[in-house]
Amino acid sequence: MKGMTNTSAVLAHSAAYAEAVQTATRAAAAYYAQGDSALDDDAYDRLVRLIEAYEQEHPDEVLPDSPTGKVAGGAAVGDVPHTAAMLSLDNVFSAEQFATWTASLERRLGRPVERWSVEPKLDGLAVAARYRQGRLVRLITRGDGTAGEDVSHAVGTIVGLPGELTEPATFEVRGEVLMTTEQFEKANAVRTEHGGEPFANPRNGAAGTLRAKDRPYTVEMTFFAYGALPLPGSGELGEGLGEWTHSDILRRVAALGVHTAADTAVPPRTAATVQEVQARVEEIAALRPELPFGIDGIVVKADSAEDQREAGAGSRAPRWAIAYKLPAVEKVTRLIAVEWNVGRTGIIAPRAVLEPVEIDGSTVTYATLHNPADITRRDLRLGDQVMVYKAGDIIPRIEAPVAHLRTGEEQPIAFPEACPQCGSEIDASEQRWRCVRGRNCRVVASIAYAVGRDQLDIEGLGTTRVVQLVDAGLVTDFADLFTLTREQLLTLDRMGETSADNLLAGIDRARTQPLSRVLAALGVRGTGRSMSRRIARHFATMDHLRAADADAVQRVEGIGVEKAPVIVAELAELGPLIAKLVAAGVNMTEPGATPPAEAEEEAAAGPTGPLGGMTVVVTGAMTGPLEKLSRNQMNEVIERAGGKASSSVSKRTSLVVAGENAGSKRAKAEDLGVRIATPDEFAVMVADALPTS
Ligand code: IVH
Repeated sequence: MKGMTNTSAVLAHSAAYAEAVQTATRAAAAYYAQGDSALDDDAYDRLVRLIEAYEQEHPDEVLPDSPTGKVAGGAAVGDVPHTAAMLSLDNVFSAEQFATWTASLERRLGRPVERWSVEPKLDGLAVAARYRQGRLVRLITRGDGTAGEDVSHAVGTIVGLPGELTEPATFEVRGEVLMTTEQFEKANAVRTEHGGEPFANPRNGAAGTLRAKDRPYTVEMTFFAYGALPLPGSGELGEGLGEWTHSDILRRVAALGVHTAADTAVPPRTAATVQEVQARVEEIAALRPELPFGIDGIVVKADSAEDQREAGAGSRAPRWAIAYKLPAVEKVTRLIAVEWNVGRTGIIAPRAVLEPVEIDGSTVTYATLHNPADITRRDLRLGDQVMVYKAGDIIPRIEAPVAHLRTGEEQPIAFPEACPQCGSEIDASEQRWRCVRGRNCRVVASIAYAVGRDQLDIEGLGTTRVVQLVDAGLVTDFADLFTLTREQLLTLDRMGETSADNLLAGIDRARTQPLSRVLAALGVRGTGRSMSRRIARHFATMDHLRAADADAVQRVEGIGVEKAPVIVAELAELGPLIAKLVAAGVNMTEPGATPPAEAEEEAAAGPTGPLGGMTVVVTGAMTGPLEKLSRNQMNEVIERAGGKASSSVSKRTSLVVAGENAGSKRAKAEDLGVRIATPDEFAVMVADALPTS
């Protein structure tokens, strides 16, 4: 299974072993007592497996403190004795390990297991709930497995654990108390409102809440039963309970009004063969990302009482059940920064930038933070260690900061004071902040982009001016710029006659920009500046380009099967804007390029232009006639001269133009024996392709 952690590391010596035991014991104690630990589940599991491996090789060195062979990692809490030990479960991490385990169980039984039960492994805390005559009389944590803590005060706050059953039955139901994602969010909101620190994750929340007695607020949790046993003086359910199959017990418990996983998307199911179990395991694993509560694996149990009895139990875990662990979907990492992005409708949404962390087989660098209030509610700070959740294809989310890992160096998160896209004011009256321009914010940003230096290059048209033009209703897209009149411009604040004339002249010059720059200005999704140039050179005119289907577009170097249809669709969508540009007299051709049919004939005749067929890399600062050219303009020159611009030097590079302070690229060219030219030499070679102004 993808992302399974299968450690091959080993502890080198007894001191490393002793240290590992100490770390694990401390983590287990913190985890079972407060529900928090510096180690996430994955790190704890890995540590225990290392310890186990060492102990198998050095059985005479096993330390009494070792967490292996102990329930709850040996963390002892509570003084209410359990009627029967509350055991833990052994783990497997792969289909192979699972097959080995079933084989050994069936060998022990001397026959195949009659039937399996497969159910979610709920990620909460184990509790035992004692019902007498249908009334819930006591609620006890697992503690060290032989005795637990009385947490009866929590009765009434746990959904699914009714104070009264539908019948006067006497028995003990065992199961997991957890917080659903929704309950967790609510709990942290209430908690931080009361000045408390947020819980790092739902499990932590359930552990803390179950134990808390004198809180001025209550938060909800949910119970899921996964077993039951008779109590002395058991009534109807207790009678013969020992002979019931596990699945019958779960059904009966549910009928009495106790919540089980039966009503979830991953109900317990029985399976006849190991293959069927494996298939169900995979089904549950696939459903995990959408579940409204956390699971950390799948529990597979022999269903029949007889199989269970004959398999028996060890000191820590039964031999008739196993936890098939799923990869951890929660990891602790650092919150480095918060970015603010503006959506199509002007919504300003924060996004967390994280120290990259590997979760469930992929590297996570960003996580959603829904809105500014969300940041405040979670009491997040820059530099915080945060618990990040990511399963399957869902967008990673921050659950909460791990408050006890704070160093005091954490900094408050700054909220933007103006729209990060267009600089306008922010409407912060709702939870979700919005640029006061709404959808127009994007209009401002896309016009400002279109007129930028590497696109239409209209001088004197900064964002502030664009905002003015949009607000005055004079432009709704960048095509409108080409029909602006002097009179219209003069109505704007801080617009004198000279500025108006200069701006009009700039706009007029932009009318003659090559097609590649018009394409770049259009911001066709999936194309940047260099791709726009390649497209323009390939098709030579907008008409040729717009007449092309995906197959034809795919002939442009660097455009694959996926991108081609996107470009075709984008161009169709931009049709009205393109028509408006054409009507305004904007140039729609690429100087020096020939349309596809003619280009093919020419290609057959061999490369043309001074750089025909050459791959050219530019590095260092340009001087002389090239001094004022941006890299983008240099690339335009190269392509106009028939060459191909590249950013890295390799054996295939034909020429490196090395200016002042050229560094590693020049050195590499020298190593590879690639021809090197100075900016002045190059300017002579491409004289005809240099920009005229
Ligand atoms: S059966 C004797 N079933 O996982 C068998 N346990 O890591 C005892 N857990 O201590 C457990 N979901 O707290 C069982 N469907 C499930 C479970 C489950 C979660 C917990 C339980 C157990 C721990 C072992």
